[in-house]
Amino acid sequence: MSNDEKRLAGEAAIQYVEDGAIVGVGTGSTVAYFIDALARIKDRIQGAVSSSEQSTAQLKKHGIPVFDLNATGPLALYVDGADECDPHKRLIKGGGAALTREKIIAEAAQKFVCIIDSGKRVNLLGKFPLPIEVIPMARSLVGREIVKRGGNPVWRDGVVTDNGNWVIDVHGWQIADPVALETELNQIPGIVTVGLFARRPADVVLVGDKLMG
Ligand code: 5RP
Repeated sequence: MSNDEKRLAGEAAIQYVEDGAIVGVGTGSTVAYFIDALARIKDRIQGAVSSSEQSTAQLKKHGIPVFDLNATGPLALYVDGADECDPHKRLIKGGGAALTREKIIAEAAQKFVCIIDSGKRVNLLGKFPLPIEVIPMARSLVGREIVKRGGNPVWRDGVVTDNGNWVIDVHGWQIADPVALETELNQIPGIVTVGLFARRPADVVLVGDKLMG
């Protein structure tokens, strides 16, 4: 993990921001650099739609207006980090527990620009434990369904998402077909969001090491 790479990736995403835009903003330490860079051009944009209370606080601190997605309609651009990224731009996300709002905004955006440091690149997704947001009463049920599929579910004890739900991290899966797994897990009652972004992958991936001078 390199903070220089994260900063370079965050700053490089600014080139995708168009004048007058309302920008979809993800969550995490890489996105924090993007928000700082966005603040420097804040007079050129209308504002942002935020994926978490954490990002909302940072945006507001910079004086960037934060809009409700219901009021904006589709967005031209969403910028977010990831925990893993494969060669097809499919991602594991949710290390920061913001996966549900992140997935909603990614779906609403025409272009999803993913900003990562080089340590996030993998050939096969799954070394990073797959986050799954669950309705609290379904935690054990979902855990059993994961065990049936060969995964090792670990409850992220003490973490409550911005939506009032819990997170299970699934260890031990080597995810050969992320679209199929995402589709299958989406059918299990009690799962709110699977941290696989494969059905809707990123459109552009900016990797910090490629941006070094
Ligand atoms: C939050 C996320 C983040 O994008 C992901 O965890 C990467 O974070 P960071 O940029 O701090 O490494 O999915 O839910």
